Amino acid sequence: MAKRATAQKYLTYDQLTPIQKKLLDDATKNMENAYSPYSHFKVGASLLAKEGEMFPGCNIENANYTNTQHGETTAIASAYTKGKREFTALAIIARGEAFDTEIPTAPCGYCRQTLYEAVQVSGNDIQLILSNTKRDKILVTSVEEILTGAFGPADLGIDVSKYRRPGKT
Ligand code: THU
Ligand code: ZN
Repeated sequence: MAKRATAQKYLTYDQLTPIQKKLLDDATKNMENAYSPYSHFKVGASLLAKEGEMFPGCNIENANYTNTQHGETTAIASAYTKGKREFTALAIIARGEAFDTEIPTAPCGYCRQTLYEAVQVSGNDIQLILSNTKRDKILVTSVEEILTGAFGPADLGIDVSKYRRPGKT
């Protein structure tokens, strides 16, 4: 099978907006805090709240493997822990300890589902800035774009907009 995303239109770091650059810089810094003694793969994330605050994420592994937490979901956890539930963008970058990623690292299926829930609560799609290690192949996409036809709160007849908490500081 062909390598993923060969037909994608990539940007380089220089082509990003100042806000996208700042978010990706933060994710790059957070990547170094990954705890990944098993996979030796470091994932960094930075989640931008509507008011402009950035929330950090990185993968945190466990000896039982199953309990491993992903960079995207720890970023959501950082923000929710601080009462923030409205977001505009999420930057993700990764590297192997012994190799650079050639193409942007995309959220796994599990993370996509978690991000989809965050989109429903936020009330808007969340832009995704996905980067390879060298930041010369960057894909700008969104949660709804990478998870179409998803299962969510509406399938259970639940309106999560009341959990939005606008203006919470
Ligand atoms: N990983 C993430 O942090 N996010 C993803 O969506 C893909 C996988 C982490 C989990 C594990 O620590 C390492 O990358 C290798 O799978
Ligand atoms: Zn994941």
